[in-house]
Amino acid sequence: MYKILKAETLAAKIHLMVVHAPRVASHCQPGQFIIVKLDEKGERIPLTICDYDREEGTITIVFQEIGVSTIKMAELKAGDAFRDFVGPLGCPSEFVEEDIEELKKKKMVFVAGGVGTAPVYPQVKWLHEHGITADVILGAKTKDMVILEKELGEVSNLYVTTDDGSYGRAGMVTKTLEDLVTNEGKHYDVCVAIGPMIMMKFVCLLTKKLGIHTIVSMNPIMVDGTGMCGACRLQVGDEIKFACVDGPEFDGHLVDFDQAMKRSQMYKTEEGRALLKLQE
Ligand code: FES
Repeated sequence: MYKILKAETLAAKIHLMVVHAPRVASHCQPGQFIIVKLDEKGERIPLTICDYDREEGTITIVFQEIGVSTIKMAELKAGDAFRDFVGPLGCPSEFVEEDIEELKKKKMVFVAGGVGTAPVYPQVKWLHEHGITADVILGAKTKDMVILEKELGEVSNLYVTTDDGSYGRAGMVTKTLEDLVTNEGKHYDVCVAIGPMIMMKFVCLLTKKLGIHTIVSMNPIMVDGTGMCGACRLQVGDEIKFACVDGPEFDGHLVDFDQAMKRSQMYKTEEGRALLKLQE
């Protein structure tokens, strides 16, 4: 059993948990994910790692209530435990393998949307620990939905945006990215975009126009996270990839987002039925 040491709500339906999982914490890297199971018959839930503490043996996860399992998960408190906590899974972010001196020459910008802010944090923190301070554009619908602002502010140059203009810069993350590059003299070699699929699609359309190499994380389309269910099958250029075993990060300019979004809709009816059952 994997004990929950801390459980808190960050925003409406978005929760953070610190879980005691020393073996995962001892060798996980930014960009990787874990799978949790609430109980023996529970659904497998893939979640990207938000933070890790190798000395304390803990992993921080952030998740959004979107289906029956995550709604049940949100009811867990500090002191409760997960039946399974498997990982680290997936490939680490590509920059982890790069020569640090070469990496220092690159200007990096991260675009974090909604709950996608969680996997951006360990990447930016890792870079900061290696002497690189990246720019981060943190986007949320409203002020209340902004998460991890303080944490990201400590390890990056942070730009907060809200769609309704209630906090930070007004408008979508793409507006701020375009403003930074075209009006504020910023230059970027690499963009890492993690968030809702529609956000990643539009960031990629913009960065293609701006000529910025872009990495996206296809975590949102994973279901079982083991390469067996086929739900995360993805067209990347002229290749078929599985987000959970080949990713979750890919060259965003090669990903067929329209196909991926269509695929992620396939499970909506089943999820709806399960939710109705929960409410009965
Ligand atoms: Fe099932 Fe990747 S999530 S195959």
